[in-house]
Amino acid sequence: METQRRKTAAFLRRRRVTAVPENSAPAPTSSFDPTLDLGEPDAPTAGKAPETATPVSITLGTHNACNAKCIFCMEGRFGGFGLDFYKEFFEKKLGPYLAEAEQITFTGFGETLLLPDIAPFLDHLNRTLPNTKKIFTTNGTALTPGVVEKLRTGKYLIQISLHASRADIHEQLTLLPGEFSVILENIRALRKAAGENLEITLVNVVNTLNVDDLPEFVKLGWDLGVHRVRAYYLTAFKPEHLRLSCFFDQARANRALQAARELHQSLASRDSSRRFQLFLPASFGSSQDASTSPVQCRLPWQHIFVDIYGSVLPCCQWGEVVDNLNKTSAEAIWNGPFYKTLRASMSSGDLLPACQKCPRFKPANVNDLLAHITSRPDQKKAILAALSPKDTGDVGADVSGKSLSLPC
Ligand SMILES: C[S@@+](CC[C@H](N)C(=O)[O-])C[C@H]1O[C@@H](n2cnc3c(N)ncnc32)[C@H](O)[C@@H]1O
Ligand code: SF4
Repeated sequence: METQRRKTAAFLRRRRVTAVPENSAPAPTSSFDPTLDLGEPDAPTAGKAPETATPVSITLGTHNACNAKCIFCMEGRFGGFGLDFYKEFFEKKLGPYLAEAEQITFTGFGETLLLPDIAPFLDHLNRTLPNTKKIFTTNGTALTPGVVEKLRTGKYLIQISLHASRADIHEQLTLLPGEFSVILENIRALRKAAGENLEITLVNVVNTLNVDDLPEFVKLGWDLGVHRVRAYYLTAFKPEHLRLSCFFDQARANRALQAARELHQSLASRDSSRRFQLFLPASFGSSQDASTSPVQCRLPWQHIFVDIYGSVLPCCQWGEVVDNLNKTSAEAIWNGPFYKTLRASMSSGDLLPACQKCPRFKPANVNDLLAHITSRPDQKKAILAALSPKDTGDVGADVSGKSLSLPC
């Protein structure tokens, strides 16, 4: 990791910019985007066999600075990514993989769409990857007319992390004062510009401050004309995040999920020709959607994540980096020991620990506290240490006891 940081810094020095400013957070060790649109676990693989020769889905951790300060987000200061870096690093190291992928997600820490050279960057993507679905996750502030114009002419899925149907909740969560109405206008403009090649998803990180608003959020998605609303439970990355986790307010979360589901059905029945999807996390408890049946996750055959530091992960649930693209080639990683073991374990059902706790693999895992906290070892340890026996007693002995007895 240190070598890569030196290489990155050297590359950016040549470009006279600073990659990772002094006093910045350490390089990330996880993709940190629980909202990655990797399809549903049992979704068909769009015409390709799961055992594809190259990943059908690639996520690039294109970290950048951010104008928001979401209260559940990991802090970090990043800069330096841009078109030159993309060409020098990602294209050189992953070229054929990028060309073959069906979808490429540009995400990570911060706002990729706020890059100073975002216009030439999008022009480059439109030119070099015209038929690939390019996915950007954004807080919506960067959807300026210039950006919308570039997106309009390409094939894109834009995921807008809005989290609330009301300005006050939005501001409380994102610490972006006065931006809610601007973002709504940006979404309306994007929707107006969208042809059939541009999809829009509204994202909601469900937590104790916005959970009651979830049905209204679905209604807002309908009114804005977006293609889908996707909600996820918050992942705690530090002890302060625990108070935001719906794991500790399960009955309230279940009520909101049910109301959101019913509202979606009633809205969708108004116009069956309109595409308006809703993806919610499983309810808590023994409800039907918190199914105990495992779903074979196909990501080991489909997906790879690489960030600007070269760190490689199979998915966003993974806590520790599994390889580095600066030391191992893409081919040697994708067909190497880690991916082989991961695939074999998934096929046999003898799962690796991260998969065992993943709600994507088994929806009933939402009933386990570990599915609501990061799997990064150090941060997980700090969070579990912060949970006193009194706290854990409040959430039900069977669930918390089981979770906390696991090694961290
Ligand atoms: C890190 S952000 C980067 C992209 C962009 N800045 C945004 O907000 O959409 C990627 C996604 O992760 C979500 N996210 C951030 N912190 C989270 C957390 N603690 N738990 C779950 N999702 C989180 C964000 O809301 C966003 O949807
Ligand atoms: S807008 Fe995205 S990157 Fe920025 S603070 Fe919020 S979640 Fe984090």
